Amino acid sequence: MSSKCKKKLVLALPKGRILDEVMPLVRAAGIEPEPNFYDDGARQLRFTTNRLDLDIVRVRSFDVATFVAFGAADLGVVGADVLMEFDYAEIYAPIDLGVGYCRLAVAEPEEMVGSDDPGTWSHVRVATKYPEITRRHFAQRGVQAECIKLSGAMELAPNLGLCRRIVDLVSSGDTLRANGLVEIEQIAEITSSLAVNRSAWKTRPEEIGQLIEDFRKVLAKTKPTKEVA
Ligand code: PRP
Repeated sequence: MSSKCKKKLVLALPKGRILDEVMPLVRAAGIEPEPNFYDDGARQLRFTTNRLDLDIVRVRSFDVATFVAFGAADLGVVGADVLMEFDYAEIYAPIDLGVGYCRLAVAEPEEMVGSDDPGTWSHVRVATKYPEITRRHFAQRGVQAECIKLSGAMELAPNLGLCRRIVDLVSSGDTLRANGLVEIEQIAEITSSLAVNRSAWKTRPEEIGQLIEDFRKVLAKTKPTKEVA
């Protein structure tokens, strides 16, 4: 097939705060999106770049993984939280980009901390957008986790009596503090990786391999990368 009729590669990026950390890496890798990309008010979701063979889409962080897993996007930037929750076989995440650092943690109301002993729990009810990770985490020590799935604002759940504990991402800790919650257990440290659809990599090894290499070089200039064997 000539390069003229080849389908464009699609790079999926997460909306929100990680985007600000990712964009310097994307630009340093030689990818510059069209100006509209930087217009927060724009309703456009797919953007051309200075590279004729590559477009960028901007979606929610969980959806980056879905687009990549199903091959709708060839590459994406995905958090370890999302990779752990869905464990998609079709996604390969060869480079930890070292951005979006935070932790996945269990939290509960401040006033419970003194009297609560997690070692005695046999059952726990938790509000979270990570039911799989949460169940696995508690199952490891024989605790049955009943998960109430929320998509955001988890910190409200204890306050409104939905449940007493939450599992959520913690970065600065400001959201927990502002809602009277305290982190009591860390489940995992989280960063975002460059993720690739395995089939796309097999069918277009040179183009995707080159993109991976470009990101690798950018990271080598800034900090040591964590390679996946
Ligand atoms: C995340 C997370 C917490 C908050 C933690 O939410 O779910 O609510 O950030 O950050 P902090 O420790 O710095 O306060 P986000 O703002 O990404 O929005 P979301 O609720 O839509 O996931």
